[in-house]
Amino acid sequence: MRRITMILSAVLVVLCACAGNKSQQESPKSNNENMEKKTTLVAYFSATGTTKAAAEKLAEVVNGDLHEIQPEQPYTDADLDWHNQQSRSSVEMKDKSSRPAIKNKVENMDQYDTIYLGFPIWWYIAPTIVNTFVEQYNLEGKTVIPFFTSGGSEAGETLNYLQPSAPKANWKEPINLTGKSKEEIEKLVK
Ligand SMILES: Cc1cc2nc3c(=O)[nH]c(=O)nc-3n(C[C@H](O)[C@H](O)[C@H](O)COP(=O)(O)O)c2cc1C
Repeated sequence: MRRITMILSAVLVVLCACAGNKSQQESPKSNNENMEKKTTLVAYFSATGTTKAAAEKLAEVVNGDLHEIQPEQPYTDADLDWHNQQSRSSVEMKDKSSRPAIKNKVENMDQYDTIYLGFPIWWYIAPTIVNTFVEQYNLEGKTVIPFFTSGGSEAGETLNYLQPSAPKANWKEPINLTGKSKEEIEKLVK
């Protein structure tokens, strides 16, 4: 009888140990564990949606948080008319010190060490609202990788006009994402 009791006790101990292990493996992660803090940000300005589409694909590829730079005053079709020298975009781009206002902010910029910064090419460079964005933050030590879409232009002098807005950031050469698929973006980013 004593022997049977001992065997039963041993079996019970083994069973309990297994159950304990299983519950440990399956226990749900705490909220903090589930909320992965990303270190890459994909911030973009897009007037007509082309750069937005590229930014969305890029954010998936680099596993980054997505942030749209929203002008305080949205650009109308008339504002974007580059044939008209008096249109808002023409006037802004002629004055390189113009800084169109932005209505939203990245609240947790400290969290990111790499920032992909997207925009359409306007008059061969980045729209000056992108300078507004860059100047709102301390980007010292952060890696900033510009990307753009365009009607055919390459980056040209783009970097020369952006860099002074955050001279202590680690700027990389701009990437042209015009018409690129997610697979092509994957290759380009590597
Ligand atoms: C005001 C303005 C100026 C532009 N200047 C150029 C340019 O210099 N070179 C070019 O290739 N495309 C130029 N474009 C075309 C845009 O770069 C292109 O359509 C871009 O993909 C639009 O992106 P979005 O839809 O994200 O705004 C210009 C467009 C606008 C509205």
